[in-house]
Amino acid sequence: MKVLFASAEAAPFFKSGGLGDVAAALPKELVKQGVDIRVVLPNYTKMPEKYKSQLEEHSHFRFQLGNKNVYCGIKTLKHDNVMYYFIDNLSYFDRPDLYGEWDDGERFAYFSTAIIEMMEVVDFIPDIVHCNDWQTAMIPAMLVDRYHWKNALKSIRKVITIHNIRFQGIYDPNILTNVFGTSYNTFTDDGVKYNELVNYLKGGINFSDRVTTVSPTYANEITTPEFGEGLDAVIRHNRWKLRGIINGIDYDSNNPETDPLIPHHFSIEDMSGKTKNKLELQRRLGLPENPDVPIIGMVSRLTDQKGFQLIEEKLNDLLQQDVQVVLLGTGEEQFENSFRYFEEVYRDKMRSCIMFDVELAQMIYASSDMFLMPSAFEPCGLSQMMAMRYGTLPIVHETGGLVDTVQAYNQFTGEGTGFSFSPFNAQTMIDVINLALHIYRNDKETWNQLVEQAMKSDFSWEGPARDYIKLYEELLNE
Ligand code: GLC
Repeated sequence: MKVLFASAEAAPFFKSGGLGDVAAALPKELVKQGVDIRVVLPNYTKMPEKYKSQLEEHSHFRFQLGNKNVYCGIKTLKHDNVMYYFIDNLSYFDRPDLYGEWDDGERFAYFSTAIIEMMEVVDFIPDIVHCNDWQTAMIPAMLVDRYHWKNALKSIRKVITIHNIRFQGIYDPNILTNVFGTSYNTFTDDGVKYNELVNYLKGGINFSDRVTTVSPTYANEITTPEFGEGLDAVIRHNRWKLRGIINGIDYDSNNPETDPLIPHHFSIEDMSGKTKNKLELQRRLGLPENPDVPIIGMVSRLTDQKGFQLIEEKLNDLLQQDVQVVLLGTGEEQFENSFRYFEEVYRDKMRSCIMFDVELAQMIYASSDMFLMPSAFEPCGLSQMMAMRYGTLPIVHETGGLVDTVQAYNQFTGEGTGFSFSPFNAQTMIDVINLALHIYRNDKETWNQLVEQAMKSDFSWEGPARDYIKLYEELLNE
C-alpha cells in the first residue's frame, strides 16, 4: 500500500504545533507496520543545519501556477526509516515563520499543486494521498478538477485529517483562476464555496473520500455549531466519511526511562528520579527547592483556545496557596504580559518562561506534579498524554481529545489518570485544581495510585496507526 502524507510541518525539521509531532510519529509507526508511506513537506529555509546538510537533490522542474511559471525543486531525506520529500522554492519558503504570511493562500496553493506535479517526477503515484489541515486541503479538489484528465492519477483515493477546524484558509474566489489556474467548476456549495469566498478546508472535506479528525469526541463536536467554526453543516453533510482516530505520542522520545533531555530517569518501579528532576527544575528556575510543594506545570501556546483566560482569572487566588506554578510558551501578547506580571508579584512561586524551549518543556513534563490544560476546545492535545507518561497528573477541561485520553478521578472506585472539569468556567476549574491539591497534600496513597495508573495508560501510536491502516484498506477495497 502506497501512501503520500502531505503536511505543512513535521518535527524535527520544523513545527508550530501538534501537527508537527503527528506528521513525524504517525508515518514512522505506519512504516513499522508495513505501509509504504512517504511524507512531503515544504523546504522551509528555517530547517536546522543538521538536517539541511543531509538533504539530497532529487530533481527539479517547472510547472504552471495560474499565470506564473514556477520552479519546483525536490530534495529527499530518509529519517527514522521514513522517506521525506521537500518541495523547494525560495520565494515561497524562505520566510521567518511557517504561516501567517500575506501570501499564504498562494504559498499553499503552490505547495498543494507541486505535490500533485511531483508524483510522476519522483515516480511515486500513491494509492492514497493523506492531506492534513487547510494547507494541503486543496489537493483533493485539484485532483478532481485541474488534474482530472491525467489517467495516472485517476485512482488515487483522498483522505484529509482535520487537526483544528478553526483554521480553514479562506480567500478571494479569483485565487482559483489567478493562482490555481483552474476554472470555477469547484466553486459551488458542495465544493469550495463558502460565503462567496474560497474555503480550502471545506474543499478538502467535500472532495476527500474520508475525513478524519484526531479524537472521537472532537469528531462528534465538530458536527455542532458550537465547535464547527462555521463548517458544522458541511461536516454533517459529509458525516458518513467522518472518523475520529485518537493521536498517540512518540514512545521512543517520550520515555522517562531513557529521555536524554531529563537529567534523572525514572519508572513506575522507581520514582525517585522524578523527585530529583523536580529539585533540579526548581534550582534551574530559581524557585525554592522543596520536594513537597506541588508544582503545577503548563506548556502551551498562550491563546484563548488553550483556556488561558480562565487561568488568568484565578491565578491570583491559586498563588495565595503553598504551590509553585511553572509556565512555558509564547502567544497572545496580553497573556504574555499578564503572566510576566504574576511572576514579578510572586517571585517565589511562579515562573513564566515566555519562550519556546524543547528541553525545558520536557523538564516540566517530567518534574511537575500536575499539568494544567483547561482548553476551551481541543481536537486531541498531546501535552496531557506526555504529562501522564511522565507521571504528572493532568487537570483538563472535558472537551475533545482531553475527554478521550484523561480518565477523571473517581473517588468511589479510585479509578482515574487525572482530573477534569466542566462546564468551561474559572470557578469549576479552580475547584478541581483545589481537589487535586487536597489529594496531593493529604492522601499520598491515592495520589501515587493515580500516578501509577496514568503512567500505565497506553498512548503509543501502535493502536491508532492500525486504525489508519484499516481506514486505508477500507478505501482500497471500495
Ligand atoms: C492541533 C490541535 C491539537 C492536536 C494537534 C495534532 O494542534 O489543536 O489538539 O493534538 O493538532 O493533531
